[in-house]
Amino acid sequence: MKSKFYITTPIYYVNASPHIGHSYTTIAADTIARFMRKALKEGNVLFLTGTDEHGQKIQKAADEAGLSAQEFVDKVVVQFRNLWKTLNISYDDFIRTTQDRHIRTVQKALQMLYDKKEIYSAEYQGWYCTPCEIFWTETQLTDSLCPDCRRPLEKISEVNYFFKISAYQDWLFNHIKNNPCFIQPASRQEEILSFLKMNTLTDLCISRPRQRLSWGIPVPFSKEHVTYVWFDALINYISAVGEFDDKGNYVSGWWGDDTRIVHMIGKDILRQHTVYWPIMLKALGIRMPDTVCAHGWWLIDAAKMSKSRGNVVNPLEVVDKYGVDVYRYFLLKDVPFGLDGNFSEEAIVKRFNSDLANDLGNLLYRTLTMIEKYYQGVIPSPRDGAHDERIKNIASCITSLSREVEDALAKATFNFSLALEKIWEPINMANKYVEEAKPWNLAKENKKEELEAFIRILVDVIRQVGNALSPFMPQTASLIEEQIGRDKISKGRPLFPRIENKR
Ligand code: MSP
Repeated sequence: MKSKFYITTPIYYVNASPHIGHSYTTIAADTIARFMRKALKEGNVLFLTGTDEHGQKIQKAADEAGLSAQEFVDKVVVQFRNLWKTLNISYDDFIRTTQDRHIRTVQKALQMLYDKKEIYSAEYQGWYCTPCEIFWTETQLTDSLCPDCRRPLEKISEVNYFFKISAYQDWLFNHIKNNPCFIQPASRQEEILSFLKMNTLTDLCISRPRQRLSWGIPVPFSKEHVTYVWFDALINYISAVGEFDDKGNYVSGWWGDDTRIVHMIGKDILRQHTVYWPIMLKALGIRMPDTVCAHGWWLIDAAKMSKSRGNVVNPLEVVDKYGVDVYRYFLLKDVPFGLDGNFSEEAIVKRFNSDLANDLGNLLYRTLTMIEKYYQGVIPSPRDGAHDERIKNIASCITSLSREVEDALAKATFNFSLALEKIWEPINMANKYVEEAKPWNLAKENKKEELEAFIRILVDVIRQVGNALSPFMPQTASLIEEQIGRDKISKGRPLFPRIENKR
């Protein structure tokens, strides 16, 4: 394992308020960051998130709100920061593309590529999709609509600057092929490899004329242009953690060979992160990230969330109703990472009642109750020699738990739902054991030793489970630790009381 770990989320557009999709990526990255902080030495994990504040969409949203672009972004960024606070997101740094450190790095990168003749100017004709901010060439169109969003396009002809990404096609193909961890999950790797096989890369237009769009980072070698928002945005991953020195070498404590670098993204921005970004880095002489991990989409009734459909779910409302950890748990458990999932309150309630109320909450509550009832709130001291086979099985299950969670979570696949399944194994075994061992009978028959051994193993399960859960459900983990760690334990109130169907 590398000694340092650097994980990022996409930087989110501030043209609208954050929704559950944004929160998903951020919660996933937060869970991994929290996990890695426990696995590595203190100070060796860096978790970056932030906001993407330039471009046409944002200019347009600001105009509509009757504010200057800067005023507008300053306002919306607060909503993101507040949401991350509510969701217990433990980011170490928050980058905004309007910050000096970022603008400086973008301009330096552009100048270096221009000096190296990797960037050239040319007359450009294309079909432009304003909402997507994408140019399409004639050959890419089957009708006069945007191939991505199916909205009408505008024909545009202008002088722009181009980055010679076409020269890197073979290199990129081989890099992806030789580094199977670079794009995860494997299905996404296939997707990009076959895209590279079937298409010839065209050079990337990395500027926009100022007269059409003024809200961007000025191109250092042309007064007439600002930087294309994706070139600007991708640079955030390096502008947050380092700088170019006078010789043009990128210097950073977080981008060396001793750091594992992971970009967590949604599948919608896979191509930018696995085609443009590696080529930008290569041309700048900077090492590649280890992994770009793309998850699927959260859908509402099988449709994508969008402002125009009016089906955008506000995470704050869900958290208000069910609690932050229930929300985090639901997102990470309900859908295998990488696939699309359907978001509904019904699904949350179902998961809540089965996994949290029936399994975890029940185990904790019944254990605390028994400690209160049979031992006056004091956990009996450990005794050796548990003879019961079931106790041995549970003990071996919790011994291997941390390794299994690590396998599921720290490998390139980031399998959150599998990690949670592993954590639920000892919970389920323990609950089954309670039902079979019938502690109330042991107490009645005065089988002291058996009852003690039984309670001890339940306490061990709860401690291990609490510990393993802490990256996923930080608040719940502390509550569990607190409840089971008291000098005098009382059953208190159930952590996850069942939600009854009101209908
Ligand atoms: N600003 C760019 C990213 C630049 S990164 C250098 C951008 N921003 S965005 O605000 O549109 O956010 C896109 C990201 O939000 C997706 O990649 C994904 O992480 C998350 N999601 C947005 N909608 C989503 C769903 N419906 N479901 C899951 N996640 C989605 O693109």
